[in-house]
Amino acid sequence: MSNFKSLIFAFFAFLQLTTFVTARPQFKNQMKRDVDQPTLLTNAARMAAGLPPMKPRSMYTPTYVAARSNPSSVPVDHYVEIRRTSNQNSVGYISKIFPYGPTTINGLKMTVSIPSGSSPANLAITIGGAAYPYLGFSGDTLSASGTNAMTTTNAVPALSKAQSVGNSYAGSKSESAIWSYSPSTGKMTPSWIQATGSAVAVKLWYYPLNDSVGLIRSSNNPITGYQVDLYVV
Ligand SMILES: *[C@@H]1O[C@H](CO)[C@@H](O)[C@H](O)[C@H]1NC(C)=O
Repeated sequence: MSNFKSLIFAFFAFLQLTTFVTARPQFKNQMKRDVDQPTLLTNAARMAAGLPPMKPRSMYTPTYVAARSNPSSVPVDHYVEIRRTSNQNSVGYISKIFPYGPTTINGLKMTVSIPSGSSPANLAITIGGAAYPYLGFSGDTLSASGTNAMTTTNAVPALSKAQSVGNSYAGSKSESAIWSYSPSTGKMTPSWIQATGSAVAVKLWYYPLNDSVGLIRSSNNPITGYQVDLYVV
């Protein structure tokens, strides 16, 4: 074979090989994941936040398919959507990274299980793969103009005042079993118990300046941001 011929031959052999490899669905899915999710960036951010690397999430995982066919017995990953109260427009989804503000990137969304319990009130919301497994708020007594920041936390019993059980918000106290859940709408409404042991009326507030959701007193209207509602979707 002349040099030119062997070059052509080598080229077609290479072409055939690459066609074969790219035709394998596994490889294609891997490529898709790499493009869809900024894995490196996400895991770097997660490491900075002291979290383990995220597990890849895709439409093709067996868990997802099984969950759809039998939702009552299989724990399913859901997201928490933030909607602006005044017009119900979506603001995004609670992020799995502090300060848990809205994201629309699938790999960054916090995954939660549908709240369950004997009553629709005072439920805990379990977070998938988090160091602190429940979604709650940090702080103790909520002052008239104060804000308690959203946090991931260890369990605090229902109707209990805030306790130092460990959370992702630097050493503060927290509450976890604070959610009322409506199975028909997916809406999850928080409550708060003051240090005195009595409940106080609260609402959820979104602060665009630091991209966080906080719990405030229902009489409080901070100058920046707006009221939001949370939905399990
Ligand atoms: C975000 O800003 C508000 C208003 O200044 C503050 O009350 C809240 O604690 C901040 N949240 C976080 C997570 O820093």
